[in-house]
Amino acid sequence: MHLLFEAGVGRGRELCAGVGLCGKCRIRFRSEAPHPCVEDRTRLTLKQLEDGWRLGCKHEVTKSCAIEVPAVASTAWPAGTGKVLAVDIGTTRIKWALGPSQGRAREMAMVNPQMGVGSEIMSRLRYALSSEFARDHLRRSVSSVIVDLMRQSKASSLAVCGNSAMIAILLDVSLKGLAHAPYSTPWKGGMSVRLDPQLPLAYIPPLLGPFIGADISAGLAYIEAQQPEYPYLLADLGTNGEFVLALDQDRYYACSVPMGPAIEGVGLCCGAMAGEFVLDRVSLGPAGLQWDKSPLAGISGTGYASVLALLRRLGLIDEDGHFQAASMPLAHKISQRIRDHRLGRIFELEPGAFVAERDIEEFLKAKAGVNVALRALIQGAGLAEGEVARVYLAGALGEHVDSKDLITLGFFPEIWREKITVAGNTALAGTMLALEQDDVRAWLDLLPGRMIVDSLAERTDFGPLFMRAMRFAWI
Ligand code: FES
Repeated sequence: MHLLFEAGVGRGRELCAGVGLCGKCRIRFRSEAPHPCVEDRTRLTLKQLEDGWRLGCKHEVTKSCAIEVPAVASTAWPAGTGKVLAVDIGTTRIKWALGPSQGRAREMAMVNPQMGVGSEIMSRLRYALSSEFARDHLRRSVSSVIVDLMRQSKASSLAVCGNSAMIAILLDVSLKGLAHAPYSTPWKGGMSVRLDPQLPLAYIPPLLGPFIGADISAGLAYIEAQQPEYPYLLADLGTNGEFVLALDQDRYYACSVPMGPAIEGVGLCCGAMAGEFVLDRVSLGPAGLQWDKSPLAGISGTGYASVLALLRRLGLIDEDGHFQAASMPLAHKISQRIRDHRLGRIFELEPGAFVAERDIEEFLKAKAGVNVALRALIQGAGLAEGEVARVYLAGALGEHVDSKDLITLGFFPEIWREKITVAGNTALAGTMLALEQDDVRAWLDLLPGRMIVDSLAERTDFGPLFMRAMRFAWI
């Protein structure tokens, strides 16, 4: 998998962390295919195994071999034109907008090319720390995109945000404090730096903690510009969950939790990023489940949330995430879609498009992380859940998700039903504001001094709390 990444082959593939989950790293050995491993047998059919297909992430190259790599449809990403360019480097996607924005600028996106070494932060860090070449290759894979965007857009000013790991890789600063405990912030941010000799100075908002990055400080800048009611919560749900509770203009509490890429539709049996023929919502009609795209090419994170919430409402998934029978006529009819598969029990939407119980477990892990983090934050500030005035949902899942689905699945308490604003990419909007307005940058300069970060993952009770929250209910 790493060799293919270094050779620039298969860019744009949304790989899991090389743990045999997504099956998207499959390659065909033209001869002498290695002995299939357990993950090969789970993800590939007997015919594919016989034809020499294997998971690229599961076999180390020890001698010369000829392989075939499936082509990846290349997606065009025209940059657009504008005077100012704001870029958000997400773990799975790079997004950008061009200004002058006059409000909220149109966002454009592409798959982060670093996905070629895995979908979550730890796989990037492991790879970057493996050699100097690897670190430089990873950095260039993103800096070259920014150079291209600047060239195409003809912009003259630039601002970049991202989580702490993405920024540290881009700046080539030490990654050790992100890879091992005790964790530390790799760089303080809140200044302009040169990312590449071909680029103008780029403003990067402050990094607030090891896993509370420039995307969060920029997101807060955007929300503050909307004159929010306090106390409010910013929940940025992506591969990493980052949360800030703002008590007033001087007191901000933050924490983060690794969530895995499931809610971005990555690392799941039929997971895919949002797009044409990718399921993003199901509804219930008199004849059963309905959706408006077919044949399905995959299921997005939002789509999984929609299906799981509906199955949970129908009683077809229990609180622990297992399929179960239902007696009510409509639910019983829908339950006929539950069947056995070589990947375990699945709920089939269409041939080749299904939700497996193992996908549900990945979703439960994300839910547990959010639940534990939010509880810790709210209790730590001495508040009750009902005292939170508003919840802003940002990040990968914060763009199109129906917040009611997340309440059904226990990501948030019922009392927030009318308090959630699906705010979209607040990071990019805030970065654009910082680029265009001096007073926003001045506010960002003061933010680190007002922020207290709780290193949740280092708490001794995190494990037990996480396990207890592995249920589809707010705990
Ligand atoms: S199965 Fe190999 S990268 Fe996901």
